[in-house]
Amino acid sequence: MPKIIFLPSEEHCPEGLEAQAESGETILDVALRNGIEIEHACEKSCACTTCHVVVREGFDSLEESDELEDDMLDKAWGLEPESRLSCQAKVEGEDLVVDIPRYTVNQVSENH
Ligand code: FES
Repeated sequence: MPKIIFLPSEEHCPEGLEAQAESGETILDVALRNGIEIEHACEKSCACTTCHVVVREGFDSLEESDELEDDMLDKAWGLEPESRLSCQAKVEGEDLVVDIPRYTVNQVSENH
């Protein structure tokens, strides 16, 4: 069974967390099932960017993002080459290391 290591994130999981994942499960669903409340403002329909994460290890094992996801990702705060929308990125066979960005677009616009 693949696992996901969530790196420590002050707001979401200060200690970090290692979670078991089912193949085919999205990163977001694994996080939510383990009590990590990644935002998902559009209810996982690839219409916002609040579920943005950066896949630090195992990125290449994921199925490539489609055009819609890429378009949305372009609007994400703190975009990196290994960014994904966690509601769209499904765990395949490999372990992943996932970083949850500190801000989402929603928070940035609220705070500034
Ligand atoms: S929850 Fe909106 S794009 Fe993932």
